[in-house]
Parts: sequence; C-alpha cells; structure tokens
Amino acid sequence: MTIGVERPDDVEAVRGVVARAFEADAAKVVDMVDALRATPEAWIPGLSFVARLDDEPVGHVLLTRCWIETERGRLDALMLTPLSVVPEHQGQGIGTALVAHALDVATAGGWPLVLLEGDPRFYGRRGFAAAEPLGFPSPAPQHIPPGAHQVALLPDHEPWMTGTLVNSAPLAALNELPRF
Ligand SMILES: CC(C)(COP(=O)(O)OP(=O)(O)OC[C@H]1O[C@@H](n2cnc3c(N)ncnc32)[C@H](O)[C@@H]1OP(=O)(O)O)[C@@H](O)C(=O)NCCC(=O)NCCS
Repeated sequence: MTIGVERPDDVEAVRGVVARAFEADAAKVVDMVDALRATPEAWIPGLSFVARLDDEPVGHVLLTRCWIETERGRLDALMLTPLSVVPEHQGQGIGTALVAHALDVATAGGWPLVLLEGDPRFYGRRGFAAAEPLGFPSPAPQHIPPGAHQVALLPDHEPWMTGTLVNSAPLAALNELPRF
C-alpha cells in the first residue's frame, strides 16, 4: 500500500472512493469534497492524499483550511474530512495509515493543530482527543455529538492557540456551523 498526494487525474477516482466508502451518504460527501475543491480559502493543494493498492485507489483523506478564533485573532488550522476506505479494504489498517500520514504532513508543514468531527473510538487511538477540554468549545453543540469534536495538537501548537472553530463555507453549510 502506498499513500501519496492526489494527482491531477485522480479527481474522478477520489469521487469514486468517497462514494463507495460513504454509501448512503455518498452524494452529500462527494458534493462536499467538490465544494471544498472549489473554495480557494479552504483548498490547499498537496493536502489531499490517496492510498493505493497495486496502483488502484482504495482510500482517501482530505485536509482543508479552517480557523480558530483565538485571543490573538483568527488562526489558520486544518480540518480532516472526509476519510474514506472502500468497503472491501476496510479493517486492513488503511484508514489508520491515512490519518497518520495526514498528521505527519501537517506536522512537517508547521500547522499547529488538526480538527475533525468523528467517532472518538476510532480517532481517540489515532492522535486525536476531545477538543472542548483542551480549549476548543464546540461550534455547534446542538449538532455535534458529545466527544465528536476532536483535535490533534501538533508540535508547533502553543498554549494561546485555542478557541472556537470557524469552518470553511462548504463545511459550515453541511454542518450548520459558523460560516467563514
Ligand atoms: C472509518 C474508516 C475510514 C476506517 O478505515 P479502515 O481502513 O477500515 O480502518 P483501519 O483498518 O485502519 O482501522 C480499523 C478500525 O476502524 C473501525 N472501523 C472499521 N470499519 C468501520 C466503519 N465502517 N465505520 C467506523 N469504523 C470502522 C474498526 O472498528 C477499527 O477500530 P479499532 O482499530 O479502533 O478497533 C472506513 O471504515 C470507512 O471509510 N468508513 C466509511 C466512511 C466513514 O465513516 N469515514 C469516517 C468518517 S469521516
């Protein structure tokens, strides 16, 4: 299995991987990725990663820009979503490897933190922790299940870098969270 930056000709394959992973929610999540791709303030080239088996795309993870309202102003941060592994290759460590790869690249890029909304049973063992106790109030407690709002603090994180998440427009629209 290899993980690399999405190539220009991967766009359709990424749509397929995301659709197959999310099944019933396929259209919503594929549309979300397309909308992020078309949002310059959110999309950062080089932060969309594809896992391949025998050169066949089987997994994908995306990091896009979000913001934290800190006491020193708005701070750029990263949002991890979506994470997708095609059904026939789930449970083989590919999702875990994609999360690790995304965090490694974010660390190397000097990003202070990565946020996501997901199942703490999965992400809690993969570098993430509940965000609220670490100083990141849930942006929409009425919509996000307890514990799902999570953060990975990276080596360049400093203590003042806390505050409420501000999502990019495509994610805000999806989650009914604060808009950019
Ligand atoms: C969740 C998902 C990305 C995990 O990828 P994966 O390659 O199967 O995961 P790994 O093999 O690295 O790790 C297996 C873990 O995933 C869990 N898992 C497997 N399939 C899962 C599924 N459909 N939904 C949630 N968790 C799942 C397993 O319980 C296991 O957990 P544990 O090791 O903490 O006990 C993948 O199953 C998937 O694409 N699911 C559908 C889309 C989705 O829910 N994405 C995440 C939300 S953004």
